[in-house]
Amino acid sequence: MEPTVVPILRKENAITIDYNLWGSYIGQDLLKNVPSSTYVLITDTNLYDLYVPSFEKAFNHAASSIKAESRLLTYTIPPGETSKSRTTKAEVEDWMLSEERDPPLDTKSVLLALGGGVIGDMIGFVAATFKRGIRFVQIPTTLLAMVDSSIGGKTAIDTPAGKNLIGAFWQPSKIYIDLNFLNTLPTREFINGLAEVIKTAVISTTAMSKTNESKGEYETMKYKFEALEANANEIMAAIKISPEANGPRLSTIKAKLKDIVLGSVQVKAHVVSADEREGGLRNLLNFGHSIGHGIEGLLTPDVLHGECVAIGMVLEAELALHLGVLSGQAVARLRKCLANYGLPTSLKDAVVRERSGHKHCSVDQILSVMAVDKKNQGKKKRIVLLRGIGLVHEQQATVVADRDIRLVLSPSVRILPSIPDGSKVSCTPPGSKSISNRALVLAALAKGKCRIRNLLHSVDTEVMIGALKTMKCASFSSGTDSEGNYLLVTGNGGNLQASETDLYIENAGTAARFLATVTILAKPTSQAYSILTGNRRMNEGRPIKDLVDALRANGSSIECLGKDGHLPLKIAAAEGMDGGDIELDASFSSQYVSSILMTAPYAKKPVTLRLTGGPPISQLYIDMTTAMMRSFGVDVIKSTTEEHTYHIPQATYQNPPDYEVESDASSATYPLALAAINGTTCIVPNVGYGSLQGDAQFAVKVLKQMGCTVNQTKSSTTVTGPPKGNLKPIASIDMETMTDAFLTASVLAAVAHDSTGKSTTKITGIKNQHKKECDRIEAMEKELAKFGVTCRGFEDGIEIDGINPDELREPDGGVHCYDDHRVAMSNSVLATVAPHGAVITEKECVGKTWPGWWDTLRLSFNVAMQGVDVENQSKSKSRQPGIGNKSIYLIGMRGAGKTTTGQWVADLLYLSFVDLDSQLEMEAKQTIPEMIKESGWEGFRRQEIAILKRTMMEESKDHVFACGGGIVEIPEARKILIDFYKSGGLVILVQRNIEDVMAYLQLDKSRPAYVDDMRSVWERRKSWYVECSNYQHYSQKAPKDSLAQASKDLERFIGTITGKRRALEKIKTKAHSFFVSLTVPDIAAASDFLPEVVVGSDAVELRVDLLEDPQNPNAPPSIEYVAKQLAILHGSTSLPVIYTIRTQGQGGKFPDNAPLELVASLYMLALRMGVEFLDLEIQFPDSILRQISTAKGHTKIIASHHDSTNILSWENGSWMKFYNKALLYGDIVKLVGVATSQEDNLQLLQFRKSAKSNHETPLIAINMGLDGQLSRIQNAFLTPVSHPALPFKAAPGQLSAAEIRSALALHGAIKPMQYYLFGSPIAQSKSPAMHNTLFKVTGLPHTYSLFETSKAADLDQILQSASFGGASVTIPLKLDIVPRLDSISDDAKLIGAVNTIIADPSTPSSKNQGGQHLTGRNTDWQGMTRVLSNAGAQPSAQQSGLVIGGGGTARAAIYALHAMGYTPIYVLGRSKPKIQELASSFPEDYSLEVLHPAEQPLKMTSVPAAAISTIPADKPIDPAVKNFLDHWLFGVNGGDLRMERDGSRDGKVTVKQILLEMAYKPAVTDMMEMAAGGGWTTIPGLEVLAGQGWYQFEAWTGIEPLYEMVREACGLKKLT
Ligand SMILES: NC(=O)c1ccc[n+]([C@@H]2O[C@H](COP(=O)([O-])OP(=O)(O)OC[C@H]3O[C@@H](n4cnc5c(N)ncnc54)[C@H](O)[C@@H]3O)[C@@H](O)[C@H]2O)c1
Ligand SMILES: [Zn+2]
Repeated sequence: MEPTVVPILRKENAITIDYNLWGSYIGQDLLKNVPSSTYVLITDTNLYDLYVPSFEKAFNHAASSIKAESRLLTYTIPPGETSKSRTTKAEVEDWMLSEERDPPLDTKSVLLALGGGVIGDMIGFVAATFKRGIRFVQIPTTLLAMVDSSIGGKTAIDTPAGKNLIGAFWQPSKIYIDLNFLNTLPTREFINGLAEVIKTAVISTTAMSKTNESKGEYETMKYKFEALEANANEIMAAIKISPEANGPRLSTIKAKLKDIVLGSVQVKAHVVSADEREGGLRNLLNFGHSIGHGIEGLLTPDVLHGECVAIGMVLEAELALHLGVLSGQAVARLRKCLANYGLPTSLKDAVVRERSGHKHCSVDQILSVMAVDKKNQGKKKRIVLLRGIGLVHEQQATVVADRDIRLVLSPSVRILPSIPDGSKVSCTPPGSKSISNRALVLAALAKGKCRIRNLLHSVDTEVMIGALKTMKCASFSSGTDSEGNYLLVTGNGGNLQASETDLYIENAGTAARFLATVTILAKPTSQAYSILTGNRRMNEGRPIKDLVDALRANGSSIECLGKDGHLPLKIAAAEGMDGGDIELDASFSSQYVSSILMTAPYAKKPVTLRLTGGPPISQLYIDMTTAMMRSFGVDVIKSTTEEHTYHIPQATYQNPPDYEVESDASSATYPLALAAINGTTCIVPNVGYGSLQGDAQFAVKVLKQMGCTVNQTKSSTTVTGPPKGNLKPIASIDMETMTDAFLTASVLAAVAHDSTGKSTTKITGIKNQHKKECDRIEAMEKELAKFGVTCRGFEDGIEIDGINPDELREPDGGVHCYDDHRVAMSNSVLATVAPHGAVITEKECVGKTWPGWWDTLRLSFNVAMQGVDVENQSKSKSRQPGIGNKSIYLIGMRGAGKTTTGQWVADLLYLSFVDLDSQLEMEAKQTIPEMIKESGWEGFRRQEIAILKRTMMEESKDHVFACGGGIVEIPEARKILIDFYKSGGLVILVQRNIEDVMAYLQLDKSRPAYVDDMRSVWERRKSWYVECSNYQHYSQKAPKDSLAQASKDLERFIGTITGKRRALEKIKTKAHSFFVSLTVPDIAAASDFLPEVVVGSDAVELRVDLLEDPQNPNAPPSIEYVAKQLAILHGSTSLPVIYTIRTQGQGGKFPDNAPLELVASLYMLALRMGVEFLDLEIQFPDSILRQISTAKGHTKIIASHHDSTNILSWENGSWMKFYNKALLYGDIVKLVGVATSQEDNLQLLQFRKSAKSNHETPLIAINMGLDGQLSRIQNAFLTPVSHPALPFKAAPGQLSAAEIRSALALHGAIKPMQYYLFGSPIAQSKSPAMHNTLFKVTGLPHTYSLFETSKAADLDQILQSASFGGASVTIPLKLDIVPRLDSISDDAKLIGAVNTIIADPSTPSSKNQGGQHLTGRNTDWQGMTRVLSNAGAQPSAQQSGLVIGGGGTARAAIYALHAMGYTPIYVLGRSKPKIQELASSFPEDYSLEVLHPAEQPLKMTSVPAAAISTIPADKPIDPAVKNFLDHWLFGVNGGDLRMERDGSRDGKVTVKQILLEMAYKPAVTDMMEMAAGGGWTTIPGLEVLAGQGWYQFEAWTGIEPLYEMVREACGLKKLT
């Protein structure tokens, strides 16, 4: 049989489509119809082995059989979208042009593109430009390529700026579609292609009717979408069979599959023929693609094109619905069809979220990608709008406003108060579910045709229709007439047939109950029974026993195939129940009763139904059924003599021509409430007092009482509200008969108050509302509170204190809906009267009962609204540093340091610290041991938990709480703590080495003694502590001197976990940054050389895989060991830490087969300990990547990939896949390849360039190996470096930071700059030696020299020079220099002296034309603080300081002591007026107190702990001053007297007292001698030179030099 052909662009046989074309058919056809001497087949490596060798054979055979001299060349490229690149195109072209080829390719050669859309698009483009265009042939192998990309001649490649931006129209000479290729196509790719198939079907009718109005064509196309709907299960079952060449996969769907592909091909070919260059009609093929591309731009490559288009189609259909051109029913049909084919229909789809690593696509991002759509008209977006299935609104894309797109895309909606006064709206809410289901059953069982209107579209009604259809009970079709949409049901009068396939009703309870009796009516077919089944929840959880029992008793044969009394049911086809007397227990469900009632007329004998088990539940629904049966022509007689008994005659239902389903009365409460609250009028035309729905009484029972005018007829309700703000409260109302409407009543009550000022409404009888979609009573309490309305929920109801609507607040963060449609709709009613409106989040949740609610609000009620992306807003909020002022909890063993840590944390974050144990003791007025003695451990724990709970409620802000050590012993407390951190709080586990804790506790007898079995207590609690906390911190055992380091470490930790320490931002500002890898097995052992190793780096990498626990050297390090190592590292450097694990496969030491749980928990440990950076290898399974990236908090992820086996190349796009994946998870991306030649570095440079132009994420990209060193030099951002002092390099080719800097200097990338010392006399200065040494060791090419002068004017030339790097300034220029500088730092301003000039080449000077911006600073005071703290100065509260002297240096000294926290600060000098003037020039909070030697006795109130002497030492000290000091401070007398005044314990000095001498010469001054004599520690002035020089160097270069080295260069002796 000849294969099927389809014409395109007036070429009859251009497209061939069938099975079995590949091989000889294509070989022969090519040679005959596209003759050439050379065919070049290009494919990807996936397809080559599968298909090419056999084709070569067939081709050669065909060629030789016709004696053609044709040759077939083949070439392969890597698979995947990254191959659609300029580089791959160039590679293919270069290969085609390569000179060795004989004969060369020429303009007659033919390219064969074998593959998916990637190959087709790219090779098509090669063909279009090769030698100005050669012929090519499309041989699509993916479904997407078959139905879409191979047809139409669009060819393209991707560029960094976007997909398909470069390309050409170039028509293939032939397209061969061999359906057999689909045998091997992976399932996900198959489904991906189905999205395009569905898309084509959805626009097909309009598309085909443009030039061909013939009915035949129209009808066949219309059938197509329905065929897709009908065949979904069968087709999906086949596609899910695993792919295999010549496998059985397609056997069952062969014919259908061909029809599907053929149908799509026909439409596409037709459209392309009508509009080759996409002027209008061809737009239609872009349905779903405008928004789809917006999504794809963000989620590619993790989510495929078709998957994004599927979501795009739904959203574009919703847009059409929103614009009023498409029905909600059509949207539902499209959504369902896509879902049935396994395609996602929403960005929230679990699969999409999983595949994209939970990436959030903000509305702004989607819109910005959409802005580059080729269809757009300038800034206006154009989108294909559907007007029905198969039908398009215009013959081309329509311009749509951004506002509308935004509203549809946004997960939340802002409702604005905008209902016009006097508005009068008629509104028909969706049909009632109960009535819809009954109407379907009755119309299907009746004779004749019935148009059912206002039917509810939901899963329940869909499965009901499906089952009735399957049993041929009736036929169904939808239609529209002047009255609107309807479902036409043609009933068979009760004739139906047993179903041969299972009747699957998902979880639809009503359908299950009604169908259980309907099925008995069936006639046997090939099968004498039907099987009624549902999903697992239905089959296991929802009993139907009473009904089955009653039917069995009546002679029906029903078998429960699963659990007794549950579905699946095997129901014999009996053409009706036996009838007669039937007894049914109706205490469980009224639907059992309705089920029997509705089929009873077709029973073999008239039925008398007796309900047992007392009064039936929900009598109203039974009445509803009998009333409806009457509408379909059957009168049920309720017995007047017997209770709960019904007589049903034998009869045939007759369909009324029309049946309008009454609107759902609960839904109707919302439009009516809108009128009530706004003082307007609303009519619901089809719910009246005749309704049997309980909620139909809402208008009369609630609204009327609140002051509305209510007019209810039998079938309609009209409500007019009192003028806005005049609703009245109802003191008490029982809503038991209309529980679902309580939410509506509550929002009205929220603004109800009467003239007496009483404003509380109490609603009762709604106990069931605690357990609906959410706890609705609690939900309303919470959400109304956000409006500023107080409610009190209780067991059976809720009380609401109404306020004036003008006082309603705008809910902070929007109204949360708990995925509950009623919460959303009721709050949106309230929002229409709130002065600032309100954002309702999760707007989609109304879909459960009223998908069109927002459109009704907008279109019928004229409510103004905007789309809002709340998730995005709150995300950007959380990106800001800080945790707000939420309280923090500390847990941990007693003695672990919670109190110290807590106090420090409180100081750092300006919170107040509370020790909960002390608090407890205070409140209970007894000690904890007493408490335990009196009420036992249990009583103590009870009080402990009470206080914990109370703080969570009452002091949720501004506090740091230290919990008692045993708090985690209480399960309830554990839960409270866990909930707390899960909701965004901080619970920090404070840890200390357990031995240290025990040692500490031995001393503390004031607490219950459990020291003895301390260790077992620790063991027991350990895992609880971890479980209850989200962070952990090691408090260092803090001997006095290392307190400074410990508090610094804590500051680092708190800064990191609260996001205040912005390590990444800081590093990003540097032109060259580095991190050093610690390649050591034990950090403690490395602590000697650590300070040296980290110099010049901006971060330090802890290579966890290289750590070796001496206790267990051959295993991967344990969590506890790593935790200790990390704590040691944190304790010894303040640099940010990069935490890295590498397996052997990734070039590290961690075993490749180590359990993944260990890897995951090691990563989690790093997050818990607040590392700044975590290196996450993207080769680890996605589950780990996701876990870590969701839990990361403020830690930044370096997503890395190492190609240690060198299979990737920077040039051909093969890195893209890894780069893209890394982008998904990383705040920083790190890619490490291997260089085997210098070329590789140039390619890397190109790669980096294009990456940089597309993504803001910083990139670390280097090549390993000696050949790769250049790439390290060029990397610039966080380059990994080694250090000569380290045992070995982390990777081959690694350089030190200094080496890289000198290389950069050689390249000219770091320019040599000149630095100076300005002043006089300066010949003896140590500064040149110091700075030149530092420049040298850090690899910088700069020089530092002396420039001696006393005149600032002499400096002008230097200051304006481009090579001026900066300067130190000393006397006499410290003040004179100021006018020549562009800016002065605040400290230098207050001190009144500049000692450092910093030049910024990136900013031009405002003072010197052409010069650099110069800043003056003062580092003298920083140097002073540094040396004082190094000497152990650690001022605690109320320690005073002393400055001796009143000159320029004294100002810096005052500044330094104040910065360190000394208060008050005494200033002692010879001249009282001078000192007084000095003191008064400082702000008051410096608490300066002037001392004068003549004024005795002393006025000092506290002992100075630190003193700085600023008087010259080359002359003797002024005798009065000396005398004063000797007497009051340093001398023996002074000591005694001082102690008396101070009142310290036992007359002993407990504070370390330190004197800093600012004079350099002599090495030991008189002042120092005097102080040392009084027991003070003294520091020589040269130390400050080193200190200020250190800060100067750091300010100039961004490098923190090794402090010891600076001291040494100044000639200071090494400290021991
Ligand atoms: N030109 C157009 O009009 C047009 C239209 C739609 C899409 N496109 C383009 O098409 C591209 C997507 O094409 P795609 O979805 O076909 O993806 P694809 O070409 O990347 O192929 C998908 C994967 O399936 C493999 N594969 C292909 N056929 C196979 C088979 N028969 N058996 C086993 N494996 C097989 C491939 O090797 C590849 O890994 C995108 O670049 C898109 O822009 C172009
Ligand atoms: Zn597409």
